[in-house]
Amino acid sequence: MAKSLAWACIGFYGFLALGLLFFLFQPDLDTFTDYGYFVPAKGPHPVYEHNYDVSQLGNSEADLLVAKGYELFMRTSENLGPLSGNDQMNYSGNVLSCNNCHLDGGTKAFAAPLIGIIQRFPQYRGRENKIGTIEERINGCMERSMNGQVLDPEGEEMNAFIAYLEWLGRYAPEDGKIEGLGFLSLEIPNRAVDLEHGRQVFVDVCVACHNANGQGRLLADGSGYLYPPLWGPNSYNNGAGMTRVITAATFIKGNMPFGTTYDLPQLTDEEAFDVAGYINQQSRPVKPNLELDFPELTKKPVSSPYPPYADPFSLKQHQLGPFQEIMQYYLTEYNLKKTR
Ligand code: HEC
Ligand code: HEC
Repeated sequence: MAKSLAWACIGFYGFLALGLLFFLFQPDLDTFTDYGYFVPAKGPHPVYEHNYDVSQLGNSEADLLVAKGYELFMRTSENLGPLSGNDQMNYSGNVLSCNNCHLDGGTKAFAAPLIGIIQRFPQYRGRENKIGTIEERINGCMERSMNGQVLDPEGEEMNAFIAYLEWLGRYAPEDGKIEGLGFLSLEIPNRAVDLEHGRQVFVDVCVACHNANGQGRLLADGSGYLYPPLWGPNSYNNGAGMTRVITAATFIKGNMPFGTTYDLPQLTDEEAFDVAGYINQQSRPVKPNLELDFPELTKKPVSSPYPPYADPFSLKQHQLGPFQEIMQYYLTEYNLKKTR
């Protein structure tokens, strides 16, 4: 009895002493594998604090492939699309770069960060209703966000993308799940998009960079874009995730105007929702065969802007809301809880 009491005391004071040591010396908690018990300085997860500076890579073959992947990611159209000046190079069909939506090279929280993406795949995908590989997921963005064509899954460009994404994930937890994935959530207004209000937000906030005609701004030497286009022939097509008003609104809330971060959104939820609706009502490239998406139709997000649907709501309501009624329908009819 006395013995176990003594041990309990040792345990108790030992614990206090350890706490004191931590307090005095403040060890680098980054080196602890179990994340989640302290608040990091910049991201919602310590993995964002690591070094993702490609300029520090060496000259090995492996490092050069990572650097190439980074170059493709940052200047996609200059390498794989129309900005290359080579007609034959048409993997990418517009002037966007992966980095335009996956900000800071895919390392920005709530800008669909790609840290740990390799670990998160293969993954079930509703759009195809099957388990998809990371190569297929990248090709999804090639065909839609880039309005282009699929890359050879075993080709050099795909290998470079994968090498870069593997390198981004070198500090990620085993399951690749980190906080800050996808986009910031938002309270979807219980009404349709107000297009006039959206236009007003666009004029007040977005025109400064994306131009009054939404076509962005070229670099001074014309070699590429300083600010990317939001619609028109050089933007993402109507099959891209960004054409869903809920997805676009959540991206915009956490990232626009440029410089905005998740912890300090500049727009209200209503402003983000309305301006997202406004930009997605403008004309943009049309992807063929969209009716083949979501073979299991009930899996389709409510704000997918193209038919068919497993519900009786109009195309217009799927594009602009109100979405609560549609979500309620899926809950009642199919017992499916939809958030987007
Ligand atoms: C117009 C914006 C846009 C561009 C450009 C873009 N993407 Fe995406 N990407 C998205 C959206 C939106 C998602 C879905 C994010 C979500 O819903 O969490 C996504 C998702 C992804 C995912 C899966 C992310 C995850 O966490 O599951 C990968 C991988 C990806 N993109 C790679 C790329 C690559 C590589 C490029 C360049 C070839 C690219 N994307 C260009 C918008 C874009
Ligand atoms: C200060 C300049 C600036 C302002 C203001 C700004 N953006 Fe952007 N926007 C950018 C830049 C730069 C990128 C690309 C990010 C990168 O490549 O690092 C971007 C990317 C985007 C993208 C994804 C890529 C594309 O072309 O579709 C969307 C959508 C977008 N902005 C919407 C908006 C909206 C809506 C507003 C107004 C609420 C806005 N932006 C205000 C600079 C700006």
